[in-house]
Amino acid sequence: MNGRKLRVFIFTVLALCLIPATRYYQIDVPLLHYVEAVREVDPLSLHLSGEFVENNLGSEQDADGSVTVRMVAQQYLFVPHCILVPAGVPVHLRITSADAVHSLAFNGTEYNVKVLPGTISATRLEFSQPGEYTTMCREFCGAGHYAMRSQLKVVPRDQFPTLRPGERANCAAQ
Ligand code: CUA
Repeated sequence: MNGRKLRVFIFTVLALCLIPATRYYQIDVPLLHYVEAVREVDPLSLHLSGEFVENNLGSEQDADGSVTVRMVAQQYLFVPHCILVPAGVPVHLRITSADAVHSLAFNGTEYNVKVLPGTISATRLEFSQPGEYTTMCREFCGAGHYAMRSQLKVVPRDQFPTLRPGERANCAAQ
């Protein structure tokens, strides 16, 4: 390989490495979603039907003891505003956006979930200790971006309410 070919080769390899590098903190959104216009949910009818209607948001207990949390990000808030989860159990987060691209970050943790309209971001979280975390939007989404915050309350496992099927936990019940 002569010098010029080698430079082109190295440049190409570095350029290709950039793609996974930009994905590192956004493991939740498959790269495919940027390439194709994959549409799992209609952002305009989230409140009308489907998984993200209002009374389906919040924490739900799964049969195996884990918890599923459903949220909607919209300019400029996260719904529900306060999420309640038990410590030490897997938390399956499912979140989508009603409008722009947002990013849900849990302060003091490495969790940072990119949220796109039309797509469900699904990721697994776990909080080993009880505590309160401020969650904030880390993707510039408009004039109210810097005020786009919410709360996550992690309670000891035995203090998490026992939920009936279909019931959701929230902070107000605490
Ligand atoms: Cu939502 Cu920034």
